[in-house]
Amino acid sequence: MTSLYQRLGGQSALDGIVAVFCSKLWSDERLAPFWTDVDRERLCSALKAFLAQAFGGPGEAGRFDLRRSHAEAVSRGLHETQFDAWMYHWAETLQDHGIEQDLIARTAVVLESFRREVQGRG
Ligand code: HEM
Repeated sequence: MTSLYQRLGGQSALDGIVAVFCSKLWSDERLAPFWTDVDRERLCSALKAFLAQAFGGPGEAGRFDLRRSHAEAVSRGLHETQFDAWMYHWAETLQDHGIEQDLIARTAVVLESFRREVQGRG
């Protein structure tokens, strides 16, 4: 079965998509407070690796502990609204790249599955 990673076009396509996605995150005023003390380049690289694996591409499952890496952001107010904004930018970025709706929806289902961990719930 073709993975979401392959359907998105593999690593080089994903890297390009994530680079644009990150720039949307950095320029969203509602999210700005979360990035002040963060190494943005490192975060963006981590996202490329994480998403590749999450979408069925290469990488080691369990390399990232999303609950731990977001604990500080949660204590600063990462809740539903901020997660929704993150998801909005993701979908919009894929749309900008001409990705079909069905594929966008499938990636969103995968990302939604991390909501509880990222928000430090349950
Ligand atoms: C499905 C949604 C999300 C995923 C998959 C995700 C994924 C990641 C990954 C892979 C890292 C790097 C962790 C590491 O290097 O070990 C990270 C770091 C981070 N994320 Fe997220 N994230 C999500 C949502 C969010 C949201 C909504 C916010 C805030 C609005 C956020 C804020 C941060 C911050 C501040 C860091 C940097 C932590 C640090 O280096 O100190 N993330 N995220």
